[in-house]
Amino acid sequence: MGHVIAIDGPAGAGKSTIARLVADKLGYTYIDTGAMYRAIALWAVRTGIELPAADAEKLEQLAIAANIELLPGRRVQLNSEDVTDAIRTPEISALASQVAAIGGVRAALVIKQRQIAEHANVVMEGRDIGSVVFPDARVKIFLDADPAERIRRRAGELPGESVQLVASQISERDARDRTRAESPLVQAPDATYLDSTGMTPEQVGEAILGIVRARISNGKAAGAATERET
Ligand code: DC
Repeated sequence: MGHVIAIDGPAGAGKSTIARLVADKLGYTYIDTGAMYRAIALWAVRTGIELPAADAEKLEQLAIAANIELLPGRRVQLNSEDVTDAIRTPEISALASQVAAIGGVRAALVIKQRQIAEHANVVMEGRDIGSVVFPDARVKIFLDADPAERIRRRAGELPGESVQLVASQISERDARDRTRAESPLVQAPDATYLDSTGMTPEQVGEAILGIVRARISNGKAAGAATERET
């Protein structure tokens, strides 16, 4: 089993940027679990499964059968097809959040997420990594930011969308992710809360690396992480 650094938090908190930065520094593999839920939502749409009224069993079967590969450069393959751009549309964002509320889908993807960390050190980001997927993770971060800043960041990634629409999509998705019955977005009791509002990615990355170093020197985790020279 490799070492796990878990980064959870709501949409637009900066998880992807920060998780990639920390993974690069430590020489760990970056794993975006949201991309896995997005891939299942895309496959469901293509298969003609109607959400949200879909048969949960059918969606669970898709999640079990899906061959999802998370490649360097944040590229994503679903059943050997590059779906990197197809999974980032606002439509798939909303559907991914619906698919993620289904227990069977979560169970299938959690198995895949645990398998990835069997033979690799990972920085894994999502909503339930510290609370459910890896309750014994070496370091757990709950990354947050002011809602207005989260909307600004997400709108910056979607230049064609109106800020108002992005705001309503984020708040709808967050509400669903936080209130669903299955593995809702919560801060694990032993996670460190980090508010990234007004901070640069480098500052947030440095704060997390400081936490990683402190954990290692406290001897709370076996082994040592070696930072790459930059
Ligand atoms: O991180 P993201 O926005 O790409 O995630 C897409 C959706 O998937 C999001 O609405 C919540 C869900 N998700 C989840 O429930 N659990 C995870 N570990 C990762 C994402």
